[in-house]
Amino acid sequence: MEEETELASSNKSWVVSAVGITLVLFAVSALLGFIIFPAAEGRESESLWASICRAAGLPVSSTVNTEGIQGTKVAIANAVPSIPPGESIGRGATLAQQCAICHGPTGVSRADAPNLAGQYPTVTYKQLRDFKDHVRVSAVMSPFAEHLTEENIQDLAAYYASLQRIELKTAKPGVAAPTIVVSGAPLRGIAPCGSCHGAIENKLGSPWLEGQSVVYLRNQLEAFAQGSRRNDVNEQMRNVARAMTQEEIEAAAQYYASKPHPPEI
Ligand code: HEC
Ligand code: HEC
Repeated sequence: MEEETELASSNKSWVVSAVGITLVLFAVSALLGFIIFPAAEGRESESLWASICRAAGLPVSSTVNTEGIQGTKVAIANAVPSIPPGESIGRGATLAQQCAICHGPTGVSRADAPNLAGQYPTVTYKQLRDFKDHVRVSAVMSPFAEHLTEENIQDLAAYYASLQRIELKTAKPGVAAPTIVVSGAPLRGIAPCGSCHGAIENKLGSPWLEGQSVVYLRNQLEAFAQGSRRNDVNEQMRNVARAMTQEEIEAAAQYYASKPHPPEI
């Protein structure tokens, strides 16, 4: 009986010292990893999450506060407008008068708002729903989407899809396609842009990019990379943008903006 008690008490002290040592080791490594090393490298202001991501080898680009923005509520399979376009287009044209100041009377913007003429109806529908649901956020655009009804959104999608894609005056046909656009970056998991955005294949829900302004394209890629735009289904576009370098973002934006006109639907 006495022996057993001795054994139990020696076991207990062994457990206490093991737990103690583990805690001390944990504290020392946390201190080193999250405070001393970052300070030595001049990164004191980095968040704990950013430190963990960087330690795990994930690119960290975010300093933007993205709390509270949820993912899209639109299931891409259901995003195709259900009202027959014939009935919709006329109503859409009337509604679109309030959009013309930024998106142009023919769906081609003279400012840096995206061109909508000839955009796939699925894309216009999904983006308007996402603005309305506040899962894609833009101080300029969101107020115009908030009051739209489901029918309004389908009508606008049908109307813009019916507009002709015109030859753009901003085109610079000489710009060669950069590697990131043509072949992506297989080692970083980036598929060629054209495998979703046309050229190779158009995946449902992927907008055409040709002829959009450099500013708009660059802003969207940076917003996806930083997570301030997070309405893409399954993070498919965030995964691409996060893995791109700043030079690749710039090259892709310059290239797509230089194309004379969007491809035919
Ligand atoms: C005051 C200017 C302004 C008005 C008016 C406006 N928009 Fe926009 N719209 C923008 C800007 C700027 C963006 C890009 C937002 C961003 O940077 O995320 C945008 C984005 C969009 C997009 C996303 C396009 C894409 O390729 O992802 C759609 C669709 C759209 N607008 C439709 C409309 C419709 C329909 C109306 C009218 C009901 C409208 N907009 C009114 C400025 C405006
Ligand atoms: C796996 C498919 C896929 C690949 C590969 C891909 N994209 Fe995308 N991209 C998407 C989808 C889907 C969206 C629309 C997301 C949403 O629902 O808002 C998008 C949106 C965008 C937008 C915003 C356009 C707008 O008008 O809203 C830009 C810019 C863009 N992609 C650029 C690129 C570039 C540049 C590449 C290549 C380096 C690329 N994408 C590769 C699927 C892809």
